[in-house]
Amino acid sequence: MSHAEDHEGTRRDFLYYATAGAGAVATGAAVWPLVNQMNPSADVKALASIRVDVSGVETGTQLTVKWLGKPVFIRRRTEEEIAAARSVDLGDLIDPKSENANKPDADASDENRSLDEAGEWLVMIGVCTHLGCVPIGNGSGDFGGWFCPCHGSHYDAAGRIRKGPAPRNLDVPIAVFEDETTIKLG
Ligand code: FES
Repeated sequence: MSHAEDHEGTRRDFLYYATAGAGAVATGAAVWPLVNQMNPSADVKALASIRVDVSGVETGTQLTVKWLGKPVFIRRRTEEEIAAARSVDLGDLIDPKSENANKPDADASDENRSLDEAGEWLVMIGVCTHLGCVPIGNGSGDFGGWFCPCHGSHYDAAGRIRKGPAPRNLDVPIAVFEDETTIKLG
């Protein structure tokens, strides 16, 4: 079988490509259009829920996948990032609500925003809550998280807005670990 015949553009391929792109995506906004092109078909974009293989995501990097037309950041945080995010006094937050679809009434503590109890995984919609740009990640900005260069919004290591015009923390979508290496969105 030739390589072309072997390649059928299945969802599995999409997830593979998304994972393969993880290193490049760590730099954020500038690279996002590249990942966007990797999506093979309209039916993948339309899926209400997708499964993402995160086995290739190294500590300290972020995988960006497209879900329901939006970039979703899946970050595997370092011990330092987790400790920094968990040491923040909630009184210092601009938006003290969780903005977590899994826990709508909770406060914005890191424990309420991260996917797992240990806080290693943080899953967020990668859209600035000001006017919709895609923030740059990888410890960017004054608070070691994400930075939106459009108008200067700084998000911390839990994706909480700390400085700049954005009114809300980055949204956390419905997400769950389906098995050890698979995150289901939606
Ligand atoms: S869109 Fe992000 S700061 Fe304005």
